[in-house]
Amino acid sequence: RMPERVTIYEVGPRDGLQNEPEVVPLEVKAELVRRLVAAGLPVVEATSFVHPRWVPQLADAAELVELLRGEDESLEHPVLVPNERGLDRALAAGCTHVAVFASATETFAAKNLNSTVADQMTMFGPVVERALAAGATVRAYVSMCFGDPWEGPVDPDVVVRVGRRLLDLGATQLSLGDTIGVATPAQVGDLVARFAAAGIDVDRLAMHFHDTYGQALANVHAALLAGVTTFDASAGGLGGCPYAESATGNLATEDLVWMLTGLGIEHGVDLDAVVATTAWMAEQLGKPPASAVARALIG
Ligand code: HMG
Ligand code: MG
Repeated sequence: RMPERVTIYEVGPRDGLQNEPEVVPLEVKAELVRRLVAAGLPVVEATSFVHPRWVPQLADAAELVELLRGEDESLEHPVLVPNERGLDRALAAGCTHVAVFASATETFAAKNLNSTVADQMTMFGPVVERALAAGATVRAYVSMCFGDPWEGPVDPDVVVRVGRRLLDLGATQLSLGDTIGVATPAQVGDLVARFAAAGIDVDRLAMHFHDTYGQALANVHAALLAGVTTFDASAGGLGGCPYAESATGNLATEDLVWMLTGLGIEHGVDLDAVVATTAWMAEQLGKPPASAVARALIG
């Protein structure tokens, strides 16, 4: 049975923009976040407090968070933090929702975090502990949950082990990432079932699909049938990870909204406002949107 209501977790300003080679002006980033909030998206992940040399696009993380908080103190946008240095910067900027991001594979742990599958946990331990002590909520991502561009197919039991470790550290929500968009629906159902069999409440899972192979919506459908109620998406299908070979855009928010509406599942998001935001952002970036629904509605 399908859930009656889902939460769309918008990652465009972070996952979308982190992959854009040309630096987007601070004011455009802020306007993107404002428009997404106005479109009814309940969560808008704003940026990352990663090393600015690793992701120059997001070097203005503190300025963006401070600008947005200055306009509306009630807006609490989640941000990515890889380590204690990132957490210090996020807390100093007033963030109250942070996310750590782990890899299920050794190669991506090395490329994305300069770490290993074991050592990343040592890095995240004090981050999660201190974030919780400071009253922040902590989400944890697991990347390469289905396939890895260097290592091929990923053992789902390894993904469950990595995910469980992050929950044990104290993360409240786990976002399972198909970073390079290779998953197909039966694998999604199987992975969620393995988490459930390991005693992890499906309510604590979110799914994070990239649409590289055009499977993202089918994968959402499989996850809905498995009881998942939180889905990450990016307006216009922007996105990709600069450290993941062959990763392209995220599942587009408007494509997700279209399907959920068709299924009669509540989401609270205004489709036209998202599409207008996508059209506006496409103009800013000087390239057409990657989303099917945006192409259908704006030509
Ligand atoms: P490192 O070079 O090993 O860092 O990078 P380090 O700990 O050795 O520190 C070196 C220097 O960097 C030190 O400065 C630190 O203070 C500084 P020094 O003492 O030499 O002057 N430093 C920092 N400065 C600012 N902010 C920080 C920070 N950390 C250290 N946070 C590190 C390790 C984790 C920092 C690096 O690998 C990194 O920043 N990686 C981030 C990569 C990234 O952002 N990838 C994209 C996000 S993940 C993703 O997209 C997947 C996801 O969407 C889900 C999915 O699709 O699967 C989430
Ligand atoms: Mg991603």
